[in-house]
Amino acid sequence: MGRVTVITSGKGGTGKSTFAAGVGAALVRRGNRVLIIDCDAGMRGVDLMLGVSGRLVFDIADIVRGNCTPENAIYPCSTVPELYILPAPQNIRDEVSPNIMRQLVHILKKYYDHILIDCPAGIGTGFESAAAAAGYAVIVANAEPLSLRGCDKVRQRLVRLKISEIRLVINRFNERKFRKCGFFPDLDSVIDKAGARLLGIVPEDNAAAAETQRGQPPEGKMKAVYAFDRIAARLDGADVPLGI
Ligand SMILES: Nc1ncnc2c1ncn2[C@@H]1O[C@H](COP(=O)(O)OP(=O)(O)O)[C@@H](O)[C@H]1O
Ligand SMILES: [Mg+2]
Repeated sequence: MGRVTVITSGKGGTGKSTFAAGVGAALVRRGNRVLIIDCDAGMRGVDLMLGVSGRLVFDIADIVRGNCTPENAIYPCSTVPELYILPAPQNIRDEVSPNIMRQLVHILKKYYDHILIDCPAGIGTGFESAAAAAGYAVIVANAEPLSLRGCDKVRQRLVRLKISEIRLVINRFNERKFRKCGFFPDLDSVIDKAGARLLGIVPEDNAAAAETQRGQPPEGKMKAVYAFDRIAARLDGADVPLGI
């Protein structure tokens, strides 16, 4: 049975989808078979990040409507074998309900070691559906006051949904900018404000982010890749010390 983790944030644009693609690829490097379910109906993006957008025929809404089997709507990433994507519907109207998500994920988790569920921004119905089937949650935040406020809200919702393990990822961290802005005296204050245990810090890495937008989860000697590998190891239960 695979481990099901929802990737969430509250505030939009913190890097959830980029993180899902990067950590998904890192989990594959550790020998896992990984499925990313995109729950961002109407604004899907993980298909693009995994280089499959040009060959999409079916998405999650087609499974619900009975137009295809789950297998037909799951696509392999073009560059990372054993990394798969189940795309979100193109239209927000076709957003899947929490109940359906639970049933679907229950079937799919037999076939994967990890399922990562990529959440839309906010704490609306899309968030509820994405979180419904998850046992674990990762909140992706930036070290900024607005992002951390969203993070606290989302954490409270996740607790109410009885998600047992909630972890924080600080994404796009740039020490120089962090000091210059002076929003927080140090990273400990950021973690305190978020109210969740730290899973890892992903540095700002424009080259890795650009690779992802080109349809290729980043690999090789890149700052963000190093962070994704360490986070993937922790998600797999390995004891990897924290630190940038
Ligand atoms: N670690 C990073 N370093 C630099 N840019 C990043 C990083 N993570 C994400 N980005 C960029 O931030 C923007 C938002 O990322 P995205 O993954 O789409 O966020 P979300 O899914 O939370 O809306 C994109 O332009 C992406 O390339
Ligand atoms: Mg996204």
